[in-house]
Amino acid sequence: MTLLKVRGFDVHKGYLDPARQAALIGSLRPVLKAAPLFSPKVPGGGRMSVRMTSAGRFGWYSDASGYRYAQQHPSGLDWPAVPEAVLEVWRDLTRLERQPDCCLLNYYGEGARMGLHQDRDEADFSYPVVSISLGDDGLFRIGNRARGGKTESVWLNSGDVVVMGGEARLAYHGLDRIRFKSSRLLPKGGRINLTLRVVT
Ligand code: SIN
Ligand code: MN
Repeated sequence: MTLLKVRGFDVHKGYLDPARQAALIGSLRPVLKAAPLFSPKVPGGGRMSVRMTSAGRFGWYSDASGYRYAQQHPSGLDWPAVPEAVLEVWRDLTRLERQPDCCLLNYYGEGARMGLHQDRDEADFSYPVVSISLGDDGLFRIGNRARGGKTESVWLNSGDVVVMGGEARLAYHGLDRIRFKSSRLLPKGGRINLTLRVVT
């Protein structure tokens, strides 16, 4: 386990050992059953290439009218609770009393990616964002607090956890591509990213 600092992002390489990674995947199964993955529409038209769902009081949601948090899955049901194994990672790394309100689950299948963006739909940016990588390797790109300028990239492997706090909280970031089937954690391949955030 090593801590890499990239532009204020804390990249905890190898934070979760294989047993903990498998336990996390196990804890996500009931979440995926209660709140199946969907492909969100984006405001400009079209759909995101990642499929997603959420757990917690709020889920992150996007459609033609914009990005926001929603209190229900598109099915109309409440989001399932955030698994204890996921909350444990948040508590260990942030040492905060406050629990995250949302655990966004992004699934990257072959060819999926996420463009550069800021996480800015939350009310209080003093809380950090914790981001867990599981499954295939992903090429994570880190930019600046304003759009444009030079960027730096780092491969995130299964078990890596990134904390974006302080100066990094509002930095642009995205996921350029995955190395499909580079990991055997998920039987069908692909990458899961869990993003934990305080929303209100
Ligand atoms: C995101 O920022 O929404 C996803 C980042 C990642 O997949 O690692
Ligand atoms: Mn993000």
